[in-house]
Amino acid sequence: MTKKIALIVGSLRKDSLNRKFANALVEVAPAELQFEFVEIGDLPLYNQDLDDAHTPPAAWTAFRDKLRNVDGIVFATPEYNRSMPGALKNAIDVGSRPWGHSIWNAKPVGVISASIGAVGGFAGNHNVRQTMVTLNAPVMPGPEVYIGNGSALIGEDGKVNNDKTKEVLTAWAASYAKWVEANGRKA
Ligand code: FNR
Repeated sequence: MTKKIALIVGSLRKDSLNRKFANALVEVAPAELQFEFVEIGDLPLYNQDLDDAHTPPAAWTAFRDKLRNVDGIVFATPEYNRSMPGALKNAIDVGSRPWGHSIWNAKPVGVISASIGAVGGFAGNHNVRQTMVTLNAPVMPGPEVYIGNGSALIGEDGKVNNDKTKEVLTAWAASYAKWVEANGRKA
């Protein structure tokens, strides 16, 4: 059965490696996973006063509405200073409120990460995992994907130029499809 999966990229820059690996993931994923990129760059910083006053910014409401009914969520993120990027943390905070209406609750989550460095965004990846566990989202434990030296794996056409990386992403996507089936809402 078809599953709607939101894909959130933790980097805002136009040449983001993580977005390129996310694009590659979409290409190799099983057909039942229907991905939609959900953007986080225009979300105002979270301020609880606006929820308390029932005056959330339109961008928060649109973001929450987009994610409320998806079957799963995939994050493709770099690490910034051994943590997730602030823009991504803001998006997670926005989605987690108002209290009792978190859109992350019980959503099967997968996390991949990429970096220009050797560590492959490990710390950012685990920062997202930790936050998702707190928000009661079942996070796929493995296989784990940390793509190191990411810029060497992207060709001039902006696509992954390395067969091993494509294989890793293919295996990851197949596992994530099973994770959604096993841990997602039942039809
Ligand atoms: C980085 N980068 C980085 N890389 C890393 O491996 N560990 C780190 O802690 C950091 N910290 C960091 C902080 C900030 C503010 C920036 C802008 C960058 C480098 C990062 O991996 C690299 O810029 C990636 O290319 C970012 O991902 P995108 O934008 O290509 O998806």
